[in-house]
Amino acid sequence: MDKLTHTRSHQLYDEALTLVPGGIAGIRRPYNFVPGEYPIFLNRGAGGHVWDVDGQEYIDLLCSYGPIILGHREKEVDDAVIAQMEKGFCFNLAQEHQNELARVVRRLIPSAEMMVFVKTGSDATTAAIRASRAFTDRKVILRCGYHGWHDWCVEVKGGIPEKLYEDIHEFHYNDTDGLEKLVAEHKADLAGIIVTPVGHPLAHPVEDPAPGFLERVRELATAHGAVLVFDEIRSGFRMSLGGAQKRYGVTPDLSTFGKAMANGYPISALVGKAEVMKVYEKKAFLSSTFFPNSLEMVAALKTIEILERDRVLDVLWERGAKLRRDLDAVIERSGVPAQMTGNPMMPYIYFPRDDAGKYKERRTLFHTYAIRAGVFMQPFHHSYIAWRHTDEDYARVCQVFEDGLAHIKQVVG
Ligand SMILES: Cc1ncc(COP(=O)(O)O)c(C=O)c1O
Repeated sequence: MDKLTHTRSHQLYDEALTLVPGGIAGIRRPYNFVPGEYPIFLNRGAGGHVWDVDGQEYIDLLCSYGPIILGHREKEVDDAVIAQMEKGFCFNLAQEHQNELARVVRRLIPSAEMMVFVKTGSDATTAAIRASRAFTDRKVILRCGYHGWHDWCVEVKGGIPEKLYEDIHEFHYNDTDGLEKLVAEHKADLAGIIVTPVGHPLAHPVEDPAPGFLERVRELATAHGAVLVFDEIRSGFRMSLGGAQKRYGVTPDLSTFGKAMANGYPISALVGKAEVMKVYEKKAFLSSTFFPNSLEMVAALKTIEILERDRVLDVLWERGAKLRRDLDAVIERSGVPAQMTGNPMMPYIYFPRDDAGKYKERRTLFHTYAIRAGVFMQPFHHSYIAWRHTDEDYARVCQVFEDGLAHIKQVVG
């Protein structure tokens, strides 16, 4: 498979390094992919595909890290947004879309009695932590998973005084014993427990909840008067219209939604029990110039309407399950030490660690092969599937997995 052309990507990146620290913010930087093999700048998208600035086309299996649930440039959503643009969307006061969207979200999500609409996942998770502390008048937060870039949870601690995260303790997904130990240590001052209902650490297998895990987290929070928060930024409007909480039948006190909610438009939500949410009436504060802007609310309303009307998530589960079965079979036949992990909505090919470190070589070779063959994934992060991916796209993905793994078998074993 020939190397791709990245002339324009590299020109833009060289310039970006003089304009933006690191060239590009956060996880879009080249070292998160295979440097030298992946494009660095994209130019356009349509349906389930994206094109880079050098004109090469890819099946988009990363879906912008989750927001693209329907497809790029979904016409009905974009038309609704354009119609709103013609009326204006950034005003002194709220527009009635707020109530309309809140009614829909309350109907769909089990924990949603009241809610606030914000813009990013980090806005919503940070608002959840503040609400938990304000409601309980306690400090300690137990957390599990990625919750964004704000001071209380970011992995890279530069620029953050220790005291801002000294009351935050981390536990591992599906590790009930570890959580029980932390709860026992901190129960007198336990404000909240925040957990992603599906486990997805970087470069590790994606995990569904072990039987009883989410139920036990719920029991522990209830028993100690702590607020239970599900961080559904990834799983919301994907695992089901009511989120992972509906799919797994465990209802948290608060939960956060974002990503797939508006097919790429920036909106997120903190939803939850009215008694907890009401801390934002007087006791705690939440505001931004842009929170009330309505374009994203219009996009969310239209996206959710399509998800419901066309039973999009049922279709995605069915097609994702088939893709997953096909990829399992391809891996099995290949004889390469690899496994598909995660549920069909968030598939990830994982190369198990070995003492000789060959798994790294396998991972790099695989993703090099895949990007050259036109399948856009992320080596350290699970994929997502979208409604506008076609059967032909998935047949192509299976073929690329088959050929890529055969190549690895030859080169590394
Ligand atoms: C589970 C989860 N929570 C929170 C966030 C933070 O969202 P944002 O990047 O929109 O701030 C993310 C982002 O990937 C996420 O996956």
